[in-house]
Amino acid sequence: MLVSPSLLSADFAHLSADIDMINRSDADMLHLDVMDGVFVPNISFGFPVIKAVAGICRKPLDVHLMIVQPEKWIDTLASLGASVMNVHQEACIHLDRTIAAIKAAGMKAAVTLNPSTPVCMLEDVIAELDMVLLMSVNPGFGGQKFIGNTLEKVRRLRRMIQESGSGALIEVDGGVNAETGAQLAQAGADVLVAGSYVFSTPDPEAAIRSLKEL
Ligand code: DX5
Ligand code: ZN
Repeated sequence: MLVSPSLLSADFAHLSADIDMINRSDADMLHLDVMDGVFVPNISFGFPVIKAVAGICRKPLDVHLMIVQPEKWIDTLASLGASVMNVHQEACIHLDRTIAAIKAAGMKAAVTLNPSTPVCMLEDVIAELDMVLLMSVNPGFGGQKFIGNTLEKVRRLRRMIQESGSGALIEVDGGVNAETGAQLAQAGADVLVAGSYVFSTPDPEAAIRSLKEL
């Protein structure tokens, strides 16, 4: 299992300590949640923070843009050194063009689906994708309850990926803990994002390890 801890639940007054922990840990990527107060009912952090994090984080950056018109920021994110750019299907009118532009800028292209968006929306672009991010909560906040229907979506997406010959990974975000993580592993998820489960424990490195072992 690959693990991408979400910085949203970190201590923003001591970010460098939390990034040091991520660097030491078995995490495969660091998940960065950008919110604009329009696409989602919350505002988190933006490019100056990502730039500062990129300067000290040795793990690949997995950037999740919960913003309208994410295609405006492809070059900015590439220049900051992001490895993965996640755009929401619901935020992109010309999704095929945006996926191609993300890849041309040298990043991995990932498309995110809200809980209410069916996986069939990606049928015609799945072959082009490096990753699909399934939201298992409505995006905007950490610490929400896992939506159980996501397990069936993972299974459906796994079938779609197999039938299309796509190499896309399946990432899941929201309400992930040891219990829901184990269910997701069984359903066929490749990457788990976890915010509160990692950062609200006294031993975050052990929490990351417990997800990696699923
Ligand atoms: C929510 C974000 C998540 C969030 C997950 O909109 O996309 O990445 O940090 O937090 P937990 O793991 O606490 O549900
Ligand atoms: Zn996220």
